[in-house]
Parts: sequence; C-alpha cells; structure tokens
Amino acid sequence: MSVEKARLVEEAQRTGTLANLPRGHFISSHFVPSVSGREMESFDPGRGAAFASFAAGDGEDVDRAVAAARAALAGPWSRLSPAARGEILMRASRLIAERAARFAVVETLDSGKRLAEAEGDVAGVVRAFAYYAGAADKLHGDNVPLGSDHVGVTFEEPVGVAAQIVPWNYPLSTAARGIAPALAAGCTLVVKPAEQTPFTTLMLAELLHEAGLPEGVLNVVVGTGGDAGAALVAHPGIDHVTFTGSVATGQRVMRSAAEHVTRLVLELGGKSPVVLLADCDLDAATEGVIEAIFENAGQICSAGSRLIVEEAIAEQLLDRLVARAQALRPSHGLSDAGIGPINSPAQLARVAAHVERARAAGNRILTGGAIVPPEACGGGWFYQPTIVQAQGPDDPLVQEEIFGPVLTVQIVSDFEEAVAAANATRYALVAGIYTRDHARAWRFARTVDAGQVYINEFFAGGVAMPFGGNRKSGFGRAKGMAGLRSYCKLKSVVARI
Ligand code: NAI
Ligand code: MG
Repeated sequence: MSVEKARLVEEAQRTGTLANLPRGHFISSHFVPSVSGREMESFDPGRGAAFASFAAGDGEDVDRAVAAARAALAGPWSRLSPAARGEILMRASRLIAERAARFAVVETLDSGKRLAEAEGDVAGVVRAFAYYAGAADKLHGDNVPLGSDHVGVTFEEPVGVAAQIVPWNYPLSTAARGIAPALAAGCTLVVKPAEQTPFTTLMLAELLHEAGLPEGVLNVVVGTGGDAGAALVAHPGIDHVTFTGSVATGQRVMRSAAEHVTRLVLELGGKSPVVLLADCDLDAATEGVIEAIFENAGQICSAGSRLIVEEAIAEQLLDRLVARAQALRPSHGLSDAGIGPINSPAQLARVAAHVERARAAGNRILTGGAIVPPEACGGGWFYQPTIVQAQGPDDPLVQEEIFGPVLTVQIVSDFEEAVAAANATRYALVAGIYTRDHARAWRFARTVDAGQVYINEFFAGGVAMPFGGNRKSGFGRAKGMAGLRSYCKLKSVVARI
C-alpha cells in the first residue's frame, strides 16, 4: 500500500471521515454554498452513518450554474484549439493519477464500494481522460462528393451546454465518461451527482480547473434529484442531457427534455444474461459469473444478473457458485471486504423486497436471501450474496432489475433455448456467453439484443468500446468515439464553385 493510501485509510478509519472534503457547489470555478443556505448529509454505507455534509441545491443554484456554463461557452474556451483542449485533458489525467489514492478512499467512504474496486474505477478515469485527450483533435468531419460544381463538407460542432445526471453506483467513473468526451468536443457542462455520492465529482471539477479549464467550463450542482436534477433537465439553457439511472426517472427526464426539445442520451437499467454452454471452461466461467453479479454488490447497470446455464453442467456449476458466494465476506470497503455494502437503506429494502417476494412465491433460494444484521458488520447496510432459481420466463426475478447481489438462475436444455431466454426481457444492455465453440459464440453475439456482448470474459473492454443499451435500457452511446459524437452536432455545408 502506498504511504498516502495507508495514511488516508487510517484517517478515515480513525475519524470516520476525511478532512478537507469539498462541500459547496462548484460554479464559475469556485465552491459556493446554496442560495438557500441549505445543506444535507452524505452517508458511509459501510457504517450506516453520516460522515460529511454538503450543499443542498435547487433551481436557483442550477440557474447560476447554467448561466456560468453558457457564458463560458462563448468565452476563451471557444477559441482554444482542439489540441489545446486535449492538452488540458491530458494534464487532468496525470493529476488524477497523482491523487488516485484520495479519489479512491473518498469514493469508498461515500459509495460503500470495496477500495480495490474504487481504485479500479479511478484507474479507468485516468485512462478515460487520456483517451479523450488524444481524441480531441481527431474529430474529423467528412467531405462528400457532389460533382465538379459543388463542395460538400461536414463539421462536428460542440452541442453547447451539456448536463449530466449521475447515479450513486459509479459516481466518479460515470461522471468522467460524460465529462471527458464533452470537454474534448468543446462543450461546457453542468453536472448533478447523486445526492448519496457527491464528493468525487466535486473533487474532479476542481482538479480540471487546476489542469487549465477556463472559468465556468465545468460546473457541479449537488443536491437531490427532485430539487436540483429536475430543475437542471428542465432548464432552457441546457442543450443536451446525459442521464444514467433508473427507468422510471429516465422516463421523467425524457418527458421533461421534450419541453425544450433537449437532446438526450439515456443509460438505464438492465437484466443482463450470462449464458454458459456445456462446453465452456468451467473455472473461467465460474469466476466470470461471480464477478458479473457480486462486483460492487451487484449495483451495476450492466451486472450479469441472470445466469442461463445448459442443463448438462447446471448442478456442478451451481455447487461451485454457492461455495464461492458463501466465501465472500461482507465488510466495510476499506477493510479488505469480499463484498461491500448496499449504497442506501432504501436500496437495501428494495433488494430485500425482491427476494422476499420470490421466497413467498416458492422460488428455491440456493444461498443467501437475507439482510446481514448490522451488528454483525459494523452497522453497515449489507445483503448476503444470493442465488435464486427462477420459476419461468415471466418470473419477476427474470424480468425486473434488482440492483443488488442477487443472481437469478435459468436452466435451459440447449443453445437455441438459451438465446431465446437471453432475449426475453424488456431490457437489452449487455449479454455474456461462455463457450469454447466460437461459431456459436459469434452467432449469439449477432442475434442477442444488447448494446454490448462479452465472449468468455464479462465486463471486458474499457473506455474505447462504445457502451449503451437498447429497448428499456435506453439509447445513445457513451465511451469510444461514439461517446464523443454524442456531444457533437453535425453541420453540413455545401458551396457552389
Ligand atoms: P434514480 O434514477 O432516481 O437516480 C439517478 C440520478 O437521477 C441521481 O443523480 C438522482 O438525484 C437523479 N434524479 C432523481 N430524480 C430526478 C428527476 N426527477 N430529474 C432529474 N434527475 C433526477 O435512481 P435511484 O432512485 O437512486 O435508484 C433506484 C433504482 O434505479 C435502483 O434500484 C436501480 O434499479 C436503478 N439504478 C440504475 C442505475 C444505472 O446505472 N442504470 C444507477 C442507479 C440506480
Ligand atoms: Mg454517501
């Protein structure tokens, strides 16, 4: 462990918090309190206790942030070359790497996630800023052959002021995968982190201005979705919204964005299948399934939450999975946990309610199926790693996102049935398959409805691969060059010569 990381972990464990956390909104490059003066608290899910307070924003704070972002759009930022924008992003990438330990420890305290996972997230953010730093000056338009009398060209222009509504499960990395491409494209931003996890986004905004962003280019308003998020989406000064979160809130955001015909990318939930064919490498597949559902305690939009397994290997596989699940020790994210807590009591109650409904309906619970008593784990909000057998294709366990450490098992008799089961929900975010038969793997990849398909390794890829969903999982793409083009509006110009 680095000296700095050890010092921060020690401070957090001894005091329950960290000194010098930001607490205001970040507007026009300064931390400022709410106009109303109100504050709210953020909790450490691993202890179930408040650890720091921050500004509770509303429409007035959003007005100030949007005004700052609109002014910055016409300011020095608009005159920087794409290469100069890229240099700022590259400096930011290096600064994040230098301060990785602090970002990771704050992320663990605020979200609950295991420190190793938070460090992985921060490494991904370092990479995301480097990726989009390099992309900023490669955002070419086209020239279009129109014959000898005309010249046709296209320009990728920044959409303007982009809003980001960020959830609590991947606070820093979700914010970064929107902020980095938006800045590379030349936009300015107003970001609204989740009220459960405001701090790392505030830290990132301050760091980006230290890296050279002109005043007001990136603004952050903190507060609840109802007070700050809704006001931001409805604001006429916003040109684009990227929303990541639940389907219900996404639908509300979409209705609200319609008022001003605001452009929209929706990254919503999933009920993503992991298909295991009988010929798979069982060791690799077992580890893949465990990671797909228990990473971040299952609070991942792209979690592999439905195991679809061929009958021939089902019993053997389930024995292994149960043993692996039972070995995951729930504990505070800073103390070498096997599985971390659930982010909030509300989310813990939702997870428990899904499993109780299944229990009442007679579903077989292979392991887990209960809240961990708080006194057994330092007061935190933990749910046991759980594996439950589904009863049929309409089972709510198959159809509904749980967003917790609960794996649904569907046993199928062959490949065709596996493909049909994979496609039989209203979601279509990601899908995984484990098999040694590459022809089948590729047939699956081409027929399954999903924004992203993983063959023989779940969560593979990284920032260079476009990511997003179909159907109720949303539309539009983050990451990759597609993520960069989300923040551009295409202009066609034709000249008669
Ligand atoms: P949510 O979708 O309500 O919250 C996500 C973000 O939207 C937060 O920043 C929140 O403050 C903001 N928000 C809430 N209401 C808003 C509004 N009217 N206008 C604009 N922004 C608003 O999600 P919530 O309630 O925290 O979690 C509920 C469920 O959502 C979870 O059980 C899970 O199934 C799903 N979820 C999915 C995520 C994903 O990555 N796809 C992330 C978080 C939650
Ligand atoms: Mg928190």
